[in-house]
Amino acid sequence: MQKKESSFSFEVYDGARELQPEDASLLQAAFESTKKSYAPYSHFRVGAAARLTNGQNVTGANQENASFPAGLCAERVLLATASSLYPGVPIDTLAISYDNEKGPSNRPISPCGICRQSLQEFEQSTGRPVRLILGAREGKVYIIPQASLLLPLGFTGDELI
Ligand code: THU
Repeated sequence: MQKKESSFSFEVYDGARELQPEDASLLQAAFESTKKSYAPYSHFRVGAAARLTNGQNVTGANQENASFPAGLCAERVLLATASSLYPGVPIDTLAISYDNEKGPSNRPISPCGICRQSLQEFEQSTGRPVRLILGAREGKVYIIPQASLLLPLGFTGDELI
């Protein structure tokens, strides 16, 4: 038997004002995208904005449905948009933020498990890490160098025939 460990490092900023200007504006674009959210059930508006390696920016916002599982998170809306507009083009940095109609927005959001799975495969298929900026309307900001760090021992399609 042997023991293994999994850990990762990430950066914590006290606020968006501490970020590099291009990161601050991407996080702001993510927050602006919350206005495109369709969230009549949760009233939790999530926005995402990505800078692609080809210099283009794309955004996404969560889109809910009365059949709840049919709803889509902002991150997966963004990934589908990026892949549809620019197939195969890697994402350099993806910022995520939210506007909570029922409460505060002062702690960094973190992608759900399904989105972590989708982000992992996006990285794998484009061959490049997706750097994440996780924020809120106000408060601390996390920068994670590679989305798949959030999914240790994640399932990949490597064993699928
Ligand atoms: N949601 C996202 O869009 N992204 C996340 O990272 C977490 C959750 C959405 C799903 C649902 O529409 C609402 O937020 C509440 O869970």
